[in-house]
Amino acid sequence: MLNTTLRACALALPFVLTTPALTPAFAQEVRTAVTAASPDGSIVLTVSTDNDSRPTWSLSRKGKLLIAPSKLGFILTDGLNMVRGFSIAGSDKGQGNDRWEQPWGERRFVTDRYNEVTVRFRQSDVQGARLMNVHFRLFDDGVGFRYELPEQPGLKTMKIADETTEFDIAPKGTAWWIPGGEWNRYEQVYQKTPIDAVSTAHTPITMRLDDGTHLSFHEAALVDYAAYWLKRASGQTFRTTLSPSSQGARVIRDLPFNTPWRTIRIADSAAGLVENDLELNLNEPNKLGDVSWFQPAKYIGIWWGMIRGDWSWAEGPKHGATTTRTKQYIDFAAKHGFRGVLVEGWDKGWNGDWFGHGDDFSYTQSTPDFDLPGLAAYAKKKGVHLIGHHETGGNIANYEAQLDDAMKLYGGLGVDVVKTGYVADAGGIIAPGDKPGETHMEYHDGQRMAQHHLRVVETAARYHVAVNAHEPIKDTGLRRTYPNWVGREGARGMEYNAWGAFANGPDHEPTLVYTRMLSGPMDFTPGVLSLEGADHAPLASTLAKQLGLYLALYSPIQMAADFIENLAKYPSELDFIAKVPADWSESHLIAGAVGDYAMFARKDRNSENWYVGGVNDATARTVTLNFDYLEPGKTYNATIYKDGEGATYLSDARHRITYETRTFRKGDRYDLWLAPGGGAAMRLVAAKK
Ligand code: NOJ
Ligand code: CA
Repeated sequence: MLNTTLRACALALPFVLTTPALTPAFAQEVRTAVTAASPDGSIVLTVSTDNDSRPTWSLSRKGKLLIAPSKLGFILTDGLNMVRGFSIAGSDKGQGNDRWEQPWGERRFVTDRYNEVTVRFRQSDVQGARLMNVHFRLFDDGVGFRYELPEQPGLKTMKIADETTEFDIAPKGTAWWIPGGEWNRYEQVYQKTPIDAVSTAHTPITMRLDDGTHLSFHEAALVDYAAYWLKRASGQTFRTTLSPSSQGARVIRDLPFNTPWRTIRIADSAAGLVENDLELNLNEPNKLGDVSWFQPAKYIGIWWGMIRGDWSWAEGPKHGATTTRTKQYIDFAAKHGFRGVLVEGWDKGWNGDWFGHGDDFSYTQSTPDFDLPGLAAYAKKKGVHLIGHHETGGNIANYEAQLDDAMKLYGGLGVDVVKTGYVADAGGIIAPGDKPGETHMEYHDGQRMAQHHLRVVETAARYHVAVNAHEPIKDTGLRRTYPNWVGREGARGMEYNAWGAFANGPDHEPTLVYTRMLSGPMDFTPGVLSLEGADHAPLASTLAKQLGLYLALYSPIQMAADFIENLAKYPSELDFIAKVPADWSESHLIAGAVGDYAMFARKDRNSENWYVGGVNDATARTVTLNFDYLEPGKTYNATIYKDGEGATYLSDARHRITYETRTFRKGDRYDLWLAPGGGAAMRLVAAKK
C-alpha cells in the first residue's frame, strides 16, 4: 500500500527525488521507492520492490504509464538467485550536460544531457546478503540502466545463468523484429507483428505504440558480457535472456563489474528514434586518441563475382583475387576517386572446407597468383588503398593465434581497413580452450565473442588498421570508445540479392533504417547498378534506389558493390556515388515511416554541400521534401536522381531514372514521386556568391 501510494506520487512529480539513506536494518523492514525524471520532466522513473521483495522499475512518459513495474535480477549457476529478498539501502543522484565531438559519423557533435540515479539494493541474509546497484540515466529521448556489482564479502565471481531484467510494456502496439538465437544470426527478414506476438528477438527491436510513441530496445557498451535477446514471457512482458556459453554460466565475471546498459529510445516520431544518440552517449569516450589515420571513404572490390558464383575465393581457374584483376580494380578506383579496393580470397585456406571450420586459413600467406606487397605498392602509387579480408569461418582459435602477425602485415603495407568474417551457423564459433588443441563451441554474440571482437579491434588499432566485421556481434555504440571499429554487417545485406529474385524485399531497407541501423553503421554494400544477381535474379530496387541507399544506410566505408564493368555503364550514377560523402556533420530524417520509406538530409562534413535522398517500399508515393535545414540566404544548385515515369521494381522499368537540375533555398518544398521499390538522391552544392 505504502509502495503504491509513493509510486503514484512519484509519477506525478517531474523532479529527481530520492528517499533518505536508510540503514540496512531499517531498509529490510520498510519498502520504499526512488524516483527520478529526465531533464525536461517528460520521463519519470520509479524504482521499488514488490511484495516478494523483488527489485522493480517502472517508467512513465508525459504522465502515461509506459513500462509497468518490471523485475530486475540474476539467476546464478553456483548460488542462490539474486531476484528476491532485496530492499533499497540508499540512492545517489546526479546529472550530466556535455557535448562531444565524433571523429567521424552521422553528425559531428553529440549532446549528452541526463539526470541519473543509482539505487543501492541489499539482499536479506537468508537470501544471500548480496549487494546490487542499478544505475539509471534518464534522457529526454530515452533511458539506459545497468547493474553495477560492487566488491563485497562472499561474492568474488558471478556465474550468471541468466539475467532477468523485465520490460512490461504497458500500451499496445506493433513491433519490427528478427528472432534471436536462430541459425542465421542477424541475417533475417524482419517481421512486423503486434507486440504480443513477438517471440524471442534480437535487439535493436523497434515498436510503435498505438498512440504513435516510437520505442527501440537495445543495449550499450557490450563489453565482456553476453548479448541479450529480448524474450517475451507473456502478454507484453519481455525479459532479457543472455546468449549461451560453452561454460554453462552465460557470463562469468569477477567483481566489481558493470553490465552493459539496457537501453530504450523513446520518441514521438520515427525521426526522434533515428536522430538519437542514446547508446553512443552511454559508451566510454575515445580510448584510442587521434584516429585521423582512418579516413571515411568509398570502396569497390573483388567481391560481387564471388558472391554471385562467377569467381571463386579458392584457388583455381575461377579464382577472383588475381594480381591482374586487382590491378584493373585499382586502376578503376584511381580513375573514379574510390579510396579503397577490397580483395577477398587473397589468402591461403579457402580450398578446403572453410564454411564453419576455418582451420586452414592463413592470414599472412597469399595465394601464388596474388602479389600482396606488389599490389599494395601499386595501389599506393595510384593513391588507392587495398582493403584487407580475414574470413575466419567462425574459427577464432585459428584467427587469434595469427591475429598480431596478420594486423602487423596489413598495417605495414598501408592496408588500413580490414573486413573480418565469421561465417558459421549460430553456436558454431570455434574458440580456443585453456589447453593446447582444446576448443569450445560458442555463439556469435556470447561473452567469448564480445571479448574476441575487442581483442581484434585493439590489436588492429595498434597497427592503425580499422575493422569492418561481418557475421559480427551486434553494435552497441563501441565505435565511440574504439573509433577504428568502423562498420559491420549484422543484418541481411546486399549479398542476399545475388542468390534469388527479390531476396531482400522492397521494404527491407526502409525497415533496416528504423531497426538495425539504430545500432550503428552497416556495411550493406549498395551500388549494384545492374540491378541483378546471379542468373539475372532481379533486385527489388529501381536504379534511383541504389543511390538513395548511400543516404539511407550510413557507413563511414561505403561500397559500390557491382562489377566495375557494370558501374562504368552508368556514368551519371557512378559520378553520384563517387561524390557522395561517407562522413557527415549533420543528419536528419526529413520524412519517413517505419518499414515504409525514409528520406534523409545530410550535410557533408568537409564542405557546405547537402545530400538528400532515401528509399521506398513497394507502395508508390509522393513525399514533400523540406529544405528547412539549409543555410539562410544561400542558394544551392541541386542535381536530382529520381525514379522515372512508370519506374517499378517489378519489371524492366526498374532502370527508368530521371535527372533534373534546379536550385533550392531554405524554406523551399519539393514534391518527389517514389516508385514501388524506388528511391531518390540529390546533391546540393552551395552556390558561390
Ligand atoms: C559473408 C560476408 O557477408 C560476405 O561479404 C563475404 O564475402 C563472405 N562471407 C566470405 O567471407
Ligand atoms: Ca554475411
